[in-house]
Amino acid sequence: MAGPQHHRITASLKPAHSLSNNPSFCLSTMANPLNPYAALYEHPKGPGDQRPTAIRVIQDNNVAGKWRGNVILVTGGTSGIGAATVRALHETGADVYFTARDMGKGVQLAEKVRGQSSGAGKIEAIFMCLDSLESVKAAASTLLNLSGGRLNVLINNAGRPSISGMVGSCSR
Ligand SMILES: NC(=O)c1ccc[n+]([C@@H]2O[C@H](COP(=O)([O-])OP(=O)(O)OC[C@H]3O[C@@H](n4cnc5c(N)ncnc54)[C@H](OP(=O)(O)O)[C@@H]3O)[C@@H](O)[C@H]2O)c1
Repeated sequence: MAGPQHHRITASLKPAHSLSNNPSFCLSTMANPLNPYAALYEHPKGPGDQRPTAIRVIQDNNVAGKWRGNVILVTGGTSGIGAATVRALHETGADVYFTARDMGKGVQLAEKVRGQSSGAGKIEAIFMCLDSLESVKAAASTLLNLSGGRLNVLINNAGRPSISGMVGSCSR
């Protein structure tokens, strides 16, 4: 099922009314999350490609700067969909934490987002290796220490897109 649609966030985060500063509300009230951008998927290759980026979805739904004070965790934030999600969600103003199995990549991404994003929230990488339950528990503990025990949105993204993706190791 791997395809271009899986590399883009297509869901509408837009609530029906003014509660757009509440991420739980927004995500639970999507009328039909796949339809808002359906027409833009007609020409997915070349110059006709108008598929929305994750940041565009944030902008279109008018949630940039609206989620201040909320805490988001994205697992596997160092590559692909996770990295795009981290970058886009930071625009909401929320504090965004993401896990990295390679902290060098994690620190690099956090610095990049800090330099590019207009979001005022924190952005931090937390070490987590899915191969170790102890590492997962330690990451959860670190997150709760950093966030003061709060977590509003959890995006369980870390994983392998395919068997051929079964490469790499974990390193602090
Ligand atoms: N791409 C698709 O077409 C597709 C389709 C359906 C579902 N998905 C799912 O969507 C998610 C993201 O896919 P993607 O294409 O963005 O993949 P990706 O570019 O390979 O990114 C996967 C992320 O998970 C991390 N990760 C992988 N193995 C890990 C481990 N053992 N411990 C800790 N972190 C680990 C990676 O770390 P590194 O940066 O260090 O590699 C990376 O941050 C995956 O769960 C995948 O199964 C993808």
